[in-house]
Amino acid sequence: PTVTITLDPAFRIAPVRPRTFGSFVEHLGRCVYTGIHEPDHPTADEDGFRTDVLELTRELGVTSVRYPGGNFVSGYKWEDGVGPVEERPARHDLAWHTTDPNTVGLDEFMAWAKKAGVEPMYAVNLGTRGVAEAVDVLQYANAPQGIALSDQRAANGHPEGYGIRMWCLGNEMDGPWQTGHKTPEEYARLATETARAMRQEDPDLELIACGSSSSSMETFGAWENIVLTEAYDFVDMISAHAYYAEHDGDQGSFLASAQDMDYFIESVVATADHVRAKLKREKRIHISFDEWNVWYQKRAESRPPSGDDWPVAPVLLEDHYTAIDAVVVGNLLISLLRHSDRVASASLAQLVNVIAPIMTEPGGRAWKQTTFHPFALTARHASGEVLRLAIDVPTYENARFGQSDLADSVATWDEESGELTIFAVSRATEGDLDLAVDLSAFGDLELVEALTLHHEDPYARNSADAPDTVAPQANDTVALEGGKLTAALPAISWSILRLK
Ligand code: AHR
Repeated sequence: PTVTITLDPAFRIAPVRPRTFGSFVEHLGRCVYTGIHEPDHPTADEDGFRTDVLELTRELGVTSVRYPGGNFVSGYKWEDGVGPVEERPARHDLAWHTTDPNTVGLDEFMAWAKKAGVEPMYAVNLGTRGVAEAVDVLQYANAPQGIALSDQRAANGHPEGYGIRMWCLGNEMDGPWQTGHKTPEEYARLATETARAMRQEDPDLELIACGSSSSSMETFGAWENIVLTEAYDFVDMISAHAYYAEHDGDQGSFLASAQDMDYFIESVVATADHVRAKLKREKRIHISFDEWNVWYQKRAESRPPSGDDWPVAPVLLEDHYTAIDAVVVGNLLISLLRHSDRVASASLAQLVNVIAPIMTEPGGRAWKQTTFHPFALTARHASGEVLRLAIDVPTYENARFGQSDLADSVATWDEESGELTIFAVSRATEGDLDLAVDLSAFGDLELVEALTLHHEDPYARNSADAPDTVAPQANDTVALEGGKLTAALPAISWSILRLK
């Protein structure tokens, strides 16, 4: 089969937004403890952070990190995690049935974020708490010295406010699993009043209302409508969360997961714009896709402990990703990029150990999962403007979507540096796809690099002992002649083609 693409620098969607390449650190399993923080580790720095993980975080190209949850935040008392470490209380975390020693909290996270060079995104607890505690943590984090909470921060060694701009108003409040789960009406009131109070403290914050936990939630669409109708003037973004997995060997449906992400984003945009028309407002609401990934929720290791067992930092949600998982992750990034006009921020959930691109051994090695590669390469090379492309592509049948395109692609064009970057996925399960791209509108371009992530076994994985089993390789089928690029895309593959 042949896939034909026509590109033109005039077909611009929106600038590439650095915040598309965010991630997420939750107090869950080994993400914080033995993930980013392990004071006894041979690579630990003076603050107890693993420098091997810091290096991989930088290499991954992560720009912002959401913290401290996730389901965890809906029962969290932020004040447990500040002040002298030896005086901090241990607490049960109801969401993951674990014990949190609270040796890492807001101040430690902010120190880590600075070292990692990432922008923080902080979530407040609107599950078991409300307006007052949200304003308290905002004052502790951002207020200049001179009031009780900012003076407490200064006494804890941090005289300057952190200036955290992005704040999530709770987490997945539409989910019946959430501590303090709410109806859309209840959440709409609470989010609005919390946002109003937070803006009274600081009008310049960027506030994110909870949207839907997946596009298959019963309340999907209605939730966004009700929440935005109430909160429209007080928030900037509404969140979206989506996790994908292969079910019963159905590769075709799994490979088309980005089709659901497209549908999710376009449905929320339509709903937000409907509310805009209804309320006769000028401003537009954007999407914060602040949890997305492949996640095998039915795997045994994904189940939280139960009964009397309340372990500290157990192995939880430690998915070991395959080649096909990496292809889907690369395709989800393509979907996020092509919606850069309305997706203002996104977070790969999560960063370390918990459904993560980076894995660690306690006391030992840190290594890259298969999914690390498409994320790192997209974050590094997507720049300038995202281009709308004309694509002619055959379709295939699958159980979840009916018909899906056999390939998906997006391109970015950086006029200043003269770099054109094409990202392409083959969803074919057998045989090569012949890619032909008309680039004649760009004048003279040369191929800089062509890399393809593919493995003859789509279920091949990386491990600490074999960390490079699945990694991008040079694609030497790429040719460029007379403004036309041709390439063979192998079955179940993700590619990046860089030209200048
Ligand atoms: O990222 C793992 C969990 O998935 C988060 O805690 C929650 O928000 C979502 O359901």
